[in-house]
Amino acid sequence: MTNVPLLDLKAQYSLIRAEIGGAIDRVLESQHFILGPEVDALEREIGAFCGARFAVGVSSGTDALLVALMAIGTAPGDEVITTAYSFFATAGVIVRLGARPVFVDIDPSTFNIDANAVKGKITSRTKAILPVHLFGRVSDNDAILEIAKEKKIHVIEDAAQAIGAHDERGRSAGTIGDIGCFSFFPSKNLGAFGDAGMVITDDERLAETLRTLRVHGARPKYYHSLIGGNFRLDALQAAVLRVKLKYLPGWTEMRRTNAGRYRTFFDEMGLAEYISIPDDCPGHIYNQFVVRLADRDRLRMFLKERGVETEIYYPVPLHLQDCFTQFGYHSGEFPHAENAARDSLALPIYPELPEEQQRYVVKQIGEFYR
Ligand SMILES: Cc1ncc(COP(=O)(O)O)c(C=O)c1O
Repeated sequence: MTNVPLLDLKAQYSLIRAEIGGAIDRVLESQHFILGPEVDALEREIGAFCGARFAVGVSSGTDALLVALMAIGTAPGDEVITTAYSFFATAGVIVRLGARPVFVDIDPSTFNIDANAVKGKITSRTKAILPVHLFGRVSDNDAILEIAKEKKIHVIEDAAQAIGAHDERGRSAGTIGDIGCFSFFPSKNLGAFGDAGMVITDDERLAETLRTLRVHGARPKYYHSLIGGNFRLDALQAAVLRVKLKYLPGWTEMRRTNAGRYRTFFDEMGLAEYISIPDDCPGHIYNQFVVRLADRDRLRMFLKERGVETEIYYPVPLHLQDCFTQFGYHSGEFPHAENAARDSLALPIYPELPEEQQRYVVKQIGEFYR
C-alpha cells in the first residue's frame, strides 16, 4: 500500500530549511518580534507580488476579513452578501460585527458565488459584497463590480485560498475589489509557521484605517480614535513568509502541473462518467483539487483504507450551520451549495506530490468503480 498524504509540508521544508533557519535567526538576533522591519518588508513584497499599492500584515486570514469589514464601517443592522459555500470564517466575521450574512448560491461549475444572483439580494442595508475565490480559483466578478459601483457598495475579496491566482482578464486575486484578504495558514499555498494574514488595497485612506485598527485603533500610540483590536503580525511569521514568497510562483506551477496530470490520468482511466474534475482555468492556483461524485463518503473510506488521505471542504454549507439558525435559512434554499457539501472531495495536490502517487490515487478510484 502507498501512503498519500493530503499535504506534506515536510517535503517543502526540507528544501528551504537552511534559508528559513537564517531568516529566523535574523529575527532572534534582533529580538524584535511584533510588526517592525520584517513585517514592513513582507508588506512591500506582497503588495508588489499582487500589484496592490498597500498591504497590511495581520494576525490571520480571519482577522484580515474582520478588520476589512471594520474598516468600511460594518455595523449592526448592515447586510453583507456572500457565498453559501466557504470556510466558516467568511460568514463568522460578518455576524461577529452584528451584521446579517445574506447568502447566495454557488455556480456549480466553479464552487464560487453565482455573480449574477447578487444583484437581486441588494437592499438599502447592503454594506458590502464578499466573494470568495474558493480553492484558488478567482470568482466571476464583473456582475458584482458593476452593481457595487452603481450602488456604491464595497467589495471585499476573501482571497484566503487564492494568493497569486488571477482571473481571465489577468486581474490578481485581492486586487479586484476594494480590499483583498489573505490567509497564511500553514496549508495555504503560501503558509506561515502558525497563524498569519494580510490585507491589501489601493485606497490610501482604507490602508490607514486598516493599520490603525490593527493596533487597537491607536494613532499615535495610546490615543484611540477607533476601537480596533490586536490584529498584529509577528516578525517571525513575516520572516518565514518572505523566504517562501520567492518560491511561490514555482510551487504554483507545480500545483498546476499536478492538476493537469490528474486530468490526463482520469481521462486515461475513463472515469469521466463517474467523477467530475475541475476544468482547466489558466489563473487557478489549486489550493485544493476538488472533484465531485455521487458516492463520495464510500469512496473516501475506500481511499482511506488504501492509504490515500482526502478531505471534505465543506460538509455543511454556511446557511445550514447551527449557529446561524437565527437568520432563518432552510435546507433546500441553496441547492448547488448543498449538493457540493454532499458530493465534493479534495484530493492531494501539493507541489511536491510524486507523479507515481498521483497515478496510485487515480488507480484506486478506478478500482472503486470497477
Ligand atoms: C475561504 C477562507 N476564508 C477565511 C479563512 C480564514 O483564515 P485563517 O485560518 O488564517 O484565519 C480561510 C482559511 O482557513 C479560508 O479558507
